[in-house]
Amino acid sequence: MANKYKIFTFGCQMNVHDSEVIAGLLQQLGYEEADELEEASLLIFNTCCVRENPERKIFGRVGNLRQLKEENPRLVIAICGCMVQQPEQLERIRKELPHVNLVFGTHNVHRLPELLTQVQETGERLFEVWDTEGTIVEGLPAARLDGLKAFVNIIYGCTNFCTYCIVPYVRGRERSRQPEAIRREIEDLAAQGYREVTLLGQNVNAYGKDLDEDVTFAGLLRMLDGSGGMERIRFTTSHPRDMSDELIEAMADLPTVCEHLHLPLQAGSDRILAKMNRGYTKEQYINLVNRIRDRIPDIALTSDLIVGFPGETEEDFEETLRVVEEIQLDSAFTFIFSPRPGTVAAKMENQVPEEVKKERIYRLIELQNRISLERNRVLTGSIQEVLVEGPSQTDPDKYMGRTRGNKLVIFTGAAERGRLVPVKITEARTWSLHGELMP
Ligand code: SAM
Ligand code: SF4
Ligand code: F3S
Repeated sequence: MANKYKIFTFGCQMNVHDSEVIAGLLQQLGYEEADELEEASLLIFNTCCVRENPERKIFGRVGNLRQLKEENPRLVIAICGCMVQQPEQLERIRKELPHVNLVFGTHNVHRLPELLTQVQETGERLFEVWDTEGTIVEGLPAARLDGLKAFVNIIYGCTNFCTYCIVPYVRGRERSRQPEAIRREIEDLAAQGYREVTLLGQNVNAYGKDLDEDVTFAGLLRMLDGSGGMERIRFTTSHPRDMSDELIEAMADLPTVCEHLHLPLQAGSDRILAKMNRGYTKEQYINLVNRIRDRIPDIALTSDLIVGFPGETEEDFEETLRVVEEIQLDSAFTFIFSPRPGTVAAKMENQVPEEVKKERIYRLIELQNRISLERNRVLTGSIQEVLVEGPSQTDPDKYMGRTRGNKLVIFTGAAERGRLVPVKITEARTWSLHGELMP
């Protein structure tokens, strides 16, 4: 009987895709995915440490597996991902989770087959975490979760060092993949029947800056447009500071590049933006949004926002509310500032009390929900191009898919998964659009 694995993934799309690579490597070794935890001989926890909560959850979840390991001593329990790149967390795993017998980091995922064999042969605990990034390893397999939409990494790491953020410490400096390697991967995916790709990076629009050849992110998009017949191209995340006019033009021109931009604002107060080291002012962000909307009027704009950054006063927070009201985002991820050990902001004075942070996030969410609903209502009566994903999870008589702006649409009428179909929007809700398939 084949060995079985189960992977638990925390964090962002980068981790989701790393888990697909891990699954690809395991399948090459003859492993199969387990349905139930109990039938697996290998459990892998792919971790995130961007905020404190996911870290706490991981220690809890893995801690609970002690008995399972006692009952099945041959079980391999592995932890990988961003959390283990922090030396103090590695130490904690060593001490507090003695039943974890394999740990590998974000820079040596490709070493998994060898590490796994070693653990199985010696029966000893193995911790291998590289603290610096090597060169990009191309050609790793990926067992993607979805046969329709695929993640494709274009740039690894981040060198921005926003003062609140742990990512540059756990993912290394920015490293762009060669454009040809990206194109080949997308052509391959198109040949396998994929219809949409999302180009991934912590800062996709810094793409190419570290390469010898003269290629920008806008140039890459022009090169990828229509590759192998791929019908939709998306990307995330873009940094406002690196949003060039050349990129806006490329988005406006290229038919397969979707009209969606995730452009984290983080805060609306110039004082806080400077303390965050974001590299733009509120005015610059608003002007940028205006330029983008002038050129691409039907763009869906989404963002990330943080409340309770150290020293954030009520006035600073109200600035964020004012900017959010002005820019009319389609939706936003909102976060409570979480001090991350080792970052500059964690050591700043005037940390905001938890209850103030909570009160602020509720106010921000309430405002953004109202705006999201208004933005969706504007689409009522319009006809949207939807990539059909299959029956709706909440209403199996209906179908679901996403617009070019990445909005979820639930609709009536028989539609085939993988097709791009026109859907007339008849009702708007905060998180979804509802409609009917056009003949
Ligand atoms: N590279 C992207 C960017 O520039 O926005 C995404 C980085 S992170 C994976 C996603 C979001 O988490 C960030 O945009 C930020 O809003 C939030 N975040 C990062 N560090 C945080 C912290 N210490 N506390 C709260 N939110 C945080
Ligand atoms: Fe973190 Fe800033 Fe880099 Fe985004 S751009 S990953 S928020 S340091
Ligand atoms: Fe988390 Fe690492 Fe992504 S810290 S948000 S999984 S890059």
